[in-house]
Amino acid sequence: MKLWAGRFQKETDTMVNDFNSSIGFDARLYREDIQGSIAHATMLGRQGIIETHEAEKIVAALKEILADVEAGTVEFSVDNEDIHMNIETLLTARIGDTGKRLHTARSRNDQVALDVRLYLKKEITEIRKMVLSLMDVLARKAEDNKQSYMPGYTHLQRAQPTTFAHYMMAYANMLRRDVTRLEDCLERMDEMPLGSGALAGTTYPIDRSFVAEQLGFARITQNSLDGVSDRDYVIEFLSACSLMMMHLSRFSEEIILWCSWEFKFVELDDAYSTGSSIMPQKKNPDVAELVRGKTGRVYGDLMSLLTVMKSLPLAYNKDMQEDKEALFDAVDTVKQCLPVFGAMVDTMTVLPKNMAKAASRGFINATDCADYLTRKGMPFRDAYKIVGRLVNLCISNDETLDTLALKDFRAISGLFEADIYQALELKTCVNGRKVPGGPSAEAVDNQIANIQKFLNERSDG
Ligand code: ARG
Repeated sequence: MKLWAGRFQKETDTMVNDFNSSIGFDARLYREDIQGSIAHATMLGRQGIIETHEAEKIVAALKEILADVEAGTVEFSVDNEDIHMNIETLLTARIGDTGKRLHTARSRNDQVALDVRLYLKKEITEIRKMVLSLMDVLARKAEDNKQSYMPGYTHLQRAQPTTFAHYMMAYANMLRRDVTRLEDCLERMDEMPLGSGALAGTTYPIDRSFVAEQLGFARITQNSLDGVSDRDYVIEFLSACSLMMMHLSRFSEEIILWCSWEFKFVELDDAYSTGSSIMPQKKNPDVAELVRGKTGRVYGDLMSLLTVMKSLPLAYNKDMQEDKEALFDAVDTVKQCLPVFGAMVDTMTVLPKNMAKAASRGFINATDCADYLTRKGMPFRDAYKIVGRLVNLCISNDETLDTLALKDFRAISGLFEADIYQALELKTCVNGRKVPGGPSAEAVDNQIANIQKFLNERSDG
């Protein structure tokens, strides 16, 4: 029999029963639901809204239920619709009438808002740690590859020289922003909604701040209508995850390119690649491809929730039950991607020889050649034109700037002298770029130190 049977003259249609029920997916909130109910019952007892011994009985039974759920001896039922009503039904079955007092001064609307916040606070903390470990992998990879020279690209055309370390630090900085976005999101959502009731609060003399403190929230929500209608925190989280996945998808794409025969800048560890069922020679970057693919999934979760919430009038509407599957899917996806991606990067072998070979073709030192002339007094725009002519000459003669004879240089400009060859060396080109943020070993050292500092400041959680 339904809780609301008194008001109704018919049983719920079985199709509606199944359709309406969320226990199939919100069962994962059992811990948060019980935790919230324990705090609520304790507060009701303290405030004299229920008897202290009743509160104690409720708390003890809730703890037993938690242990039983964890031991796998409890079965939830679709007839009880969701995790909130399932737990309450179990409670009443165990302690009778006293159990029926738990829902005093509370609604499922503020209860679900509380549960999701508690759940998400915990998950954000875990995900944030995973991003920090990935940053640590990148910092180590950078440390080992400060002299691994490689071409940097624009339009996927070889453009200017850089190092693998500089590249790793680019991604580390993207992830640093992802961490701070998660932290911002956590800070903003750290508000306790219980006490909002169905939408208009309650007449009971409850103590919201006590409940907030019990549950480790920084503050209480400021408006009961907003308290039950708000899902911004879920959307913010999904958007932070979408951005992070976008970063991982770009990184994945590069790894996929880099381990192709056309590049061969890195070799993935056998444990982090897969073979083909038909082509014996294949070693495929499936992990990177899956991360790239799963990015779409997380974007989908974000779009789902933005669309569910669009134009919803205040306060609670059943549409909002649809928030959970999208949220859980994004949490699971991100938590699956981050560690495997980190391990793949950690174990991959960097092949600096192949990188240097690629860097020696494609005239990535052309800007440096122009800078050489500029240092000798020529305006940059004139130098740019002269080097353009030199590159053209090299292409017709199948040469590179490093192999071109000095007389050919001098035929185009008398400012060229024998030191041009040293100026064009990859190492010179990279290490001359000492500007803060640049690829020189010195500049990258600073970048690594900054990332390390960021990680150290967060090492205690
Ligand atoms: N299962 C519901 C959800 O996930 C809980 C809130 C139900 N509230 C209500 N008035 N039907 O959103």
